[in-house]
Amino acid sequence: MIDRSNPRIPAADVDSQFPDRWSPRAFADTPLSETQLAALFEAARWAPSCYNEQPWLFVYAVTAEDRARFAEALLPANRVWAPHAPLLLFLLCRRQFAHDGKDNRHAAFDAGAAWMALALQARKLGLHAHAMAGFSRQKAYEILGAPADEYDIMAAVAVGYRGDREALPADVAAREAPNGRKPPEAVARQGRF
Ligand SMILES: Cc1cc2nc3c(=O)[nH]c(=O)nc-3n(C[C@H](O)[C@H](O)[C@H](O)COP(=O)(O)O)c2cc1C
Repeated sequence: MIDRSNPRIPAADVDSQFPDRWSPRAFADTPLSETQLAALFEAARWAPSCYNEQPWLFVYAVTAEDRARFAEALLPANRVWAPHAPLLLFLLCRRQFAHDGKDNRHAAFDAGAAWMALALQARKLGLHAHAMAGFSRQKAYEILGAPADEYDIMAAVAVGYRGDREALPADVAAREAPNGRKPPEAVARQGRF
């Protein structure tokens, strides 16, 4: 039975790390340590992938200069909050397999697994990770100097400690709360479509 008054109460007995991960927009600018950065990328490194290709590549910014540069690729709705986070990154994935040069149809699937590992590790460190599709891919390619024929840019991600909700623009602050999910029967079917 889903408790509609709290959208984050799970419908089955799962580890609390799953409902505890969510995507806030209010970030404190407290810098992350090298140890924290290493742990985030290490968690992602252990993600499974087709042929163990590990097609993901995290290109990240921690200095004020790099974060400002990365922020230029974000759409305005994300630019109002994400640049406050001490870590901004773009998640890229390699389009072709290294072993035979053929298209890797599962690269995006694998990059998604790596992102989730990073997001869950962020919570273990007391941090939050917030993924974004709202960015200009063209600008992101320019800013990163990434080859578009070799790499797809899947998402931007902001990572940091939670900050003051009141520091957000009023319309963004109004949405600053964990959300819910579709009911269990909407996501899994036994036996047949
Ligand atoms: C690939 C992807 C793209 C997203 N793009 C944006 C975005 O551009 N801006 C934003 O504020 N949130 C974005 N989100 C956050 C989602 O809205 C959020 O994950 C979803 O509502 C579920 O909420 P939760 O992460 O708090 O559990 C994105 C999430 C993912 C995974």
